Amino acid sequence: MPAATDTGLRAFVRALPKVELHVHLVGSASVETVLELARRHPEAGVPAERADLEEFFTFRDFDHFLKVYWAVQSMLTDRHDIHTLVTGLAADLAAQNARYAEVTVTPYNHLLDGMPGDELLEGLATGRAEAAARHGVDLAWCFDIPGEKGVRAGRETLVFALRERPDGLVSFGLGGPEIGVGRAQFAPFFTAAREAGLRSVPHAGETSGPATIWSAVHDLGAERIGHGTSCASDPRLLDHLAAHGIALEVCPTSNVRTRQVESVAAHPIRRMLDHGLVVTLNTDDPPMFGATLNGEYLAVAGTLGLRYAEIAQLAGNAVRASFLGDGRKAELLAEIDQTLAGEREK
Ligand code: HPA
Ligand code: ZN
Repeated sequence: MPAATDTGLRAFVRALPKVELHVHLVGSASVETVLELARRHPEAGVPAERADLEEFFTFRDFDHFLKVYWAVQSMLTDRHDIHTLVTGLAADLAAQNARYAEVTVTPYNHLLDGMPGDELLEGLATGRAEAAARHGVDLAWCFDIPGEKGVRAGRETLVFALRERPDGLVSFGLGGPEIGVGRAQFAPFFTAAREAGLRSVPHAGETSGPATIWSAVHDLGAERIGHGTSCASDPRLLDHLAAHGIALEVCPTSNVRTRQVESVAAHPIRRMLDHGLVVTLNTDDPPMFGATLNGEYLAVAGTLGLRYAEIAQLAGNAVRASFLGDGRKAELLAEIDQTLAGEREK
């Protein structure tokens, strides 16, 4: 196999079939869509000019990021807005050669902002159908609790998820700030969601220490961890995550842009890999962070000097850690193997 040239690396990452396990629907709104919404909703305080929006998407810290995220969310009013976001995300995923994504949706926030539940569900359903038919991208949903809104949000999210149970709903999550928002208070809702067959994928260790990740594992039965960045400072936790195959949804550019890490080079991803963790690469809120899925693979591969086989391993990790059925997983893994084999023959 030749040494990875920049062009070769790009072509290889592009050619790998990929899955995205950590992307928020609101945070996936394209710059064009946000500008269009901002023109219709001047009261939201979101800039309607491109240069101003770029500035608006420069985050001082994680809390500032959340405020911006909520401002964008507040402009979404009906099924058409949701449909536009879902199909826009599918087009963006297809452009990355991503075949499947588990997309986080926060129903409680949309309901609080005044969107009827039926509008949300209808937009998700029509968007998902169009994503598959027009873009060849399969979408699944994670309904998550906005943690800052407490146990009431936990209960309402659970009730909505189990009552509506839309096609494609596979998992139950927890997002928002971590500091001052203990994971354990949400344990009853995660227990009920898991008993109903939803998988547990809370955010933890993005903006707080390893204790939050332990709590996500013990109290919420986490099967994957959103971010999990701070696990690297706790050797016992690293051992536990590795031993139990609890995958991490790592979002390097997100962590840089919300100023949780200095740079991709300073990200603990190398420690995670060296410890044998199941690391997956994801974008979180792509246009807000100027991120793309291929860009995340390229940044990590370039920074860590990964070989092609190691990059293929990362793509395979995401397939294995997904909630796809075994048949589809096997197809995608075979395609990843073929892509790697094609590289070896060059
Ligand atoms: N963490 C927590 N909440 C969020 C995020 C995130 O990365 N993105 C959107 N809401
Ligand atoms: Zn997230």
